[in-house]
Amino acid sequence: MPNEIRITSPATVANVACGFDVLGFCLDKVGDEMVIRKTAKKGISITKIEGYNLPLNVNENVAGISALAAYNVLKPNCGFEIEIYKKVKPGSGIGSSSSSAAGSVFGINALLDRPLSKSDLVKFAMQGEYYASKSEHADNIAPCIYGGFTLVKSVDPLKILELPTPDDLFAVIIHPQIEIKTSEARALLPLNVPLYSAIKQSANLGSLVHALHTSNYQLISESLNDLLIEPLRKKLIPNYNEVKEAALKNGALGCSISGSGPSVFALCKGNDSASSVKKAVSQIYSRTAINFDIFISKINTEGIKIVE
Ligand code: HSE
Repeated sequence: MPNEIRITSPATVANVACGFDVLGFCLDKVGDEMVIRKTAKKGISITKIEGYNLPLNVNENVAGISALAAYNVLKPNCGFEIEIYKKVKPGSGIGSSSSSAAGSVFGINALLDRPLSKSDLVKFAMQGEYYASKSEHADNIAPCIYGGFTLVKSVDPLKILELPTPDDLFAVIIHPQIEIKTSEARALLPLNVPLYSAIKQSANLGSLVHALHTSNYQLISESLNDLLIEPLRKKLIPNYNEVKEAALKNGALGCSISGSGPSVFALCKGNDSASSVKKAVSQIYSRTAINFDIFISKINTEGIKIVE
């Protein structure tokens, strides 16, 4: 194993409409790059951050916090330097803190000849995610580490199920350029939900899992509904109803908030359908003063990986 590796740690979509805090999928279009290097000096240091203005102090940076959590358990006979080339915009709703938190732990593990399982990596990365969002969830971290679609069966004890990805599934990611903090978007949510809505939501989640296993695009479409979270959070996202309506009218299988927003995702069958959705949604934001990014991504079935 070399003394230095470069990795790419992908962006992810959490919740996927009906799976709040448990379901997520991995994107292949955007991801943080990180260089992790072994050092003779013990400890963890972050030596460089490019892309966004984030703290170099390891105790204030999600990548540093998760790296330290793993380091303190593994107690290796060396230290590590981390360089972060941040590409996933913080606060964009596509798992920015998870890509950083997962990247550092994955890199350290790889340089130590992999003493940790993927599930262990998720556990340590969750400590960085907790610092960012003040809540313990792994629905971004799990797909970032495993790739594809993942279901977090439970966080304590941690149990993650890998779900299949139908071949022809594409995601359109629409990012209006406002920032929503996950902790603030979570503060909007009630502690209890009506039984009727909970029943509908579990039926949707169960049928979505079945649809992924059987590549049943019609059933994917019927299942992508969120009765619990979207009604409360959509007011944070400008023109949300119009965007969703345009996506569905132009062939999207479903459309909902990506994680805690402000990004919105639409799942589509095929690249042509995704292109039509991208065009229709772009027209909506182009008529407003809101700056936005929009891109199409295949589902990344590989997850985080070493690039050199
Ligand atoms: N499940 C999380 C939420 C994802 O929606 O709050 C964002 O980190």
